[in-house]
Amino acid sequence: MNPRSGRLLRKGRLKDKMTDAAASFTSSLEFDRRIFEADLQCNMAHTTMLKEQDIISPEDADKILGALQKLEAEGVDALDLDPSVEDIHMAVENYVTHEIGEVAGFMHTAKSRNDQVATDLRLVLKYEVEEIQDDLLRFIGVILDMADNHRETVMVGYTHLQHAQPTTFAHHLLSYANAIKRDYQRLKDAYQRIDMSPLGSAALTTTSFKIDREMTQKLLGFGSVMDNSIDAVSSRDFMAETVFSLALLGSTLTKICEEMILWSTYEFGMVEISDEFSSTSSIMPQKKNPDVAEIARAKTATLYGELMAILTILKALPQSYNRDLQEVTPHLWNAVDTAHSMLNITREMLSSIDFKKERALKLAKANFSTATELADLMVKEKRMPFRLAHQIVGRTVTTALENGLEPEEIDSKILDKISEEVTGESLDLDDELVRKALDPSEVIKTRKVVGGPSPEIVADAILKLRGFIEAESSGNV
Ligand code: ARG
Repeated sequence: MNPRSGRLLRKGRLKDKMTDAAASFTSSLEFDRRIFEADLQCNMAHTTMLKEQDIISPEDADKILGALQKLEAEGVDALDLDPSVEDIHMAVENYVTHEIGEVAGFMHTAKSRNDQVATDLRLVLKYEVEEIQDDLLRFIGVILDMADNHRETVMVGYTHLQHAQPTTFAHHLLSYANAIKRDYQRLKDAYQRIDMSPLGSAALTTTSFKIDREMTQKLLGFGSVMDNSIDAVSSRDFMAETVFSLALLGSTLTKICEEMILWSTYEFGMVEISDEFSSTSSIMPQKKNPDVAEIARAKTATLYGELMAILTILKALPQSYNRDLQEVTPHLWNAVDTAHSMLNITREMLSSIDFKKERALKLAKANFSTATELADLMVKEKRMPFRLAHQIVGRTVTTALENGLEPEEIDSKILDKISEEVTGESLDLDDELVRKALDPSEVIKTRKVVGGPSPEIVADAILKLRGFIEAESSGNV
């Protein structure tokens, strides 16, 4: 063991050092590297405030700040990270002590590792969430570019994974964009509760020194000061809700991945994922497998697992600092990194696909996905109750399937026959109207309701989302 390690902290109350196993078991150093820069910022802000408030002398403060700046330039590897040092806060203090001697001890005036670690974690998480938010906006932008090229690309929409109604690929893509927009908004909302300064809470009840919490809050760029010092050192709900938001984002991404996997099967044949995001088989030479989408689909389990671990650690903990809180941190970072990499790879994979327009149109035409519109036509033209029209069209489809008729072979004569069976009366629908009601491209043009698939409505929706990206990118984040 390095002779410096652990000495600063343990030479008062404790006589014996921890066993090596106990030191490694309790050390957070492995994942504390991530908060190294934030810890320096925190120490610098705190020391500056102590100086401004005349709590420590300007000379001592400047010595401390000089050592911290030197460490900043040298980087985390300049620290002694032996597990017996416990954590990054002690490693930094050890370094400063080594540089300037006992004066370093003033740095910890009116500060505890409890408020310090909470501050560091919030600083780093703010940065990470901002990065993810930027990438979410980027993802929405990529989807909008794709949608712009597919406003007239007809495909069948599914419910229960059965052919339901015709739509366009652009309309379907916008369903992804809107889900991702909400994932973005959830993170933006969670951000407000990350962006609060616990610093100055010290161990749990603040201090009798005349510290200025607002000064450190501003120096560190936090939106506000946390109102209660016990809450400030206890709370990790900001982590839980961030990871929840990431878990839901994972859920959105898995849906996209799942559809790309499904649509790239021979049976669907609607999509080809580019080679760069595919693998082959070691034995079956013909294989093109969607491995990137599969791994992304699976990794959402990690996000859910990390969320569950965090919630479980936090449950029933007494207020204020408990060392259990340290165990939340690695779950947080794993969730952040997993979600971030999933997000970027899914964006790249999706933008690489080749959407097979002809195949999609063929599927849209094949299986009576326009049946609802045919029933609607009867309501519009004959003022027939929808439920009755539904029955006539349902029977028409069954008859067509029994007789091997394609949707485009249905004409007003066939409809009259079935209508007479059901109602005793014929319909006398115009054949051109029947043809249009059965043509997926024509049906889409008529869906002009907000949120729907008509190309003009989709163009408006794309513009609206572009406006959202612009507003969020220009400083609203
Ligand atoms: N490594 C600790 C953590 O991550 C820092 C705070 C330690 N505080 C203490 N009183 N032991 O939570």
